[in-house]
Amino acid sequence: MAVPNRYFDLIDQTFYFPQEGFDIEDGYLVFNGVPLIYLIRKYGTPLKLTYLPKIGTQVKKARNLFTRAMKSVGYRGKYYYCYCTKSSHFSYVLNEVLKHDVHIETSSAFDIDLIRRLYKKGRLPKDTIIVCNGFKTEGYLERITTLINDGFENVIPICDNMGEIEYYEQHVRGKCKIGIRVATEEEPNFEFYTSRLGIRNADVARFFHEKIKDNPKFELKMLHFFVDTGIKDTLYYWGELKKAVKLYGEIKQHSKSLNAINIGGGMPIRNSLGFEFDYKYMVKEIVNLILQSCEEDEVPEPDIFTEFGKYTVGESGAAIFSVLGQKLQNDSEMWYMIDNSLMTTLPDTWGIAERFILLPINKWHNDYRRVNIGGLSCDNSDYYNSEVHESQVYLPSYDASDPEPLYLGFFHTGAYQDSISGYGGIKHCLIPSPKHVIIYKNSQGNIVDKLYQPEQTAEEMLKILGY
Ligand SMILES: Cc1ncc(COP(=O)(O)O)c(C=O)c1O
Repeated sequence: MAVPNRYFDLIDQTFYFPQEGFDIEDGYLVFNGVPLIYLIRKYGTPLKLTYLPKIGTQVKKARNLFTRAMKSVGYRGKYYYCYCTKSSHFSYVLNEVLKHDVHIETSSAFDIDLIRRLYKKGRLPKDTIIVCNGFKTEGYLERITTLINDGFENVIPICDNMGEIEYYEQHVRGKCKIGIRVATEEEPNFEFYTSRLGIRNADVARFFHEKIKDNPKFELKMLHFFVDTGIKDTLYYWGELKKAVKLYGEIKQHSKSLNAINIGGGMPIRNSLGFEFDYKYMVKEIVNLILQSCEEDEVPEPDIFTEFGKYTVGESGAAIFSVLGQKLQNDSEMWYMIDNSLMTTLPDTWGIAERFILLPINKWHNDYRRVNIGGLSCDNSDYYNSEVHESQVYLPSYDASDPEPLYLGFFHTGAYQDSISGYGGIKHCLIPSPKHVIIYKNSQGNIVDKLYQPEQTAEEMLKILGY
């Protein structure tokens, strides 16, 4: 009997397939029920898409996980979902997020202008909790302060360093809610020992006693900590969380107003069809750890805030390319050259070796072969040739005479790629930003697509370049 060598069989035997969000219909890949070949035929490639309904699903999922975990262990604090704007600032993302009653985390000065714009458009109520993180420039401090003075009653500036508080002391009229970010220790294999973000753990209590405790202006609300390598079931993660919660207990004993712990972002998303992460277990363990630590310290358990960025928006995004041609550069190295750049359109693949779910849109019944995917820029780093589950990429082989090109999709690319690549700006080798389509539910509840931005033009780039 012939050994099946078809791409479909490879996927079927390696993973469980079809699976949530991915299926095959009439030989073509379907993403969240959307036939991608329809979008390709309508808009062409390269194409980025955002499937907006996924955002609400993610918010609801996380909210359910936390509230159920809290209920199951008798936790008396509340859960607050904040969206961290930096993972995608686009208006359609924020509009969607805000439909789900979430709060906001900001990281720089212009974020505050964004908040004001949303307020003006009636999308964000004045009592939204706005957690202001990051190292504060003069412009950021000024905007935060003006926001508070204009009556946004739940702005919580999070002190990233000790000097920052002086500005609020001088410029905020009336009372000022405040938070403190505790610097975590970095993972043992990282270049630095302590994160540059936040106030070092050993200084936090002193800072609180000297600057906040007896100052009637300030109301300490939140202790913030974020392990930026993400929420993982490792000794390192649990150790850092434990330290932060211990510190919470210590300060809580002297602060009536302190009632929240913010564990930041870092909830992982599916970056492979073989992805396994026990969300329910992790959330329950987090809630349990906080509860137990507070019981030991005899303080009431805090409200828990999260600032999930990638988790909120990552799985809503995809980037679709055509393979323009294949190049066999030696006996074993086959290149599939795509019609855009990986380096500029999916910069995390290059900058931090991030992996995404990679699947062909068509030709699932062709044989498969090992390939390298090459981008259009001249850079030798503009390639993609390994996946999370193995250090190679397999894709369908195809005949150059086949009239339909091979189409490839990178999935769950909705977070960070646009802000890091500088959407619509100058690009390496002047490779343009792809066109961008959003898919959403209209007022009749039907799923519809709309071109958000056409592909970047030469005129747009040349204008920036001064021609
Ligand atoms: C303070 C803070 N909160 C939240 C996030 C969001 O992280 P993620 O997108 O991994 O959820 C970040 C990301 O860098 C962050 O620095």
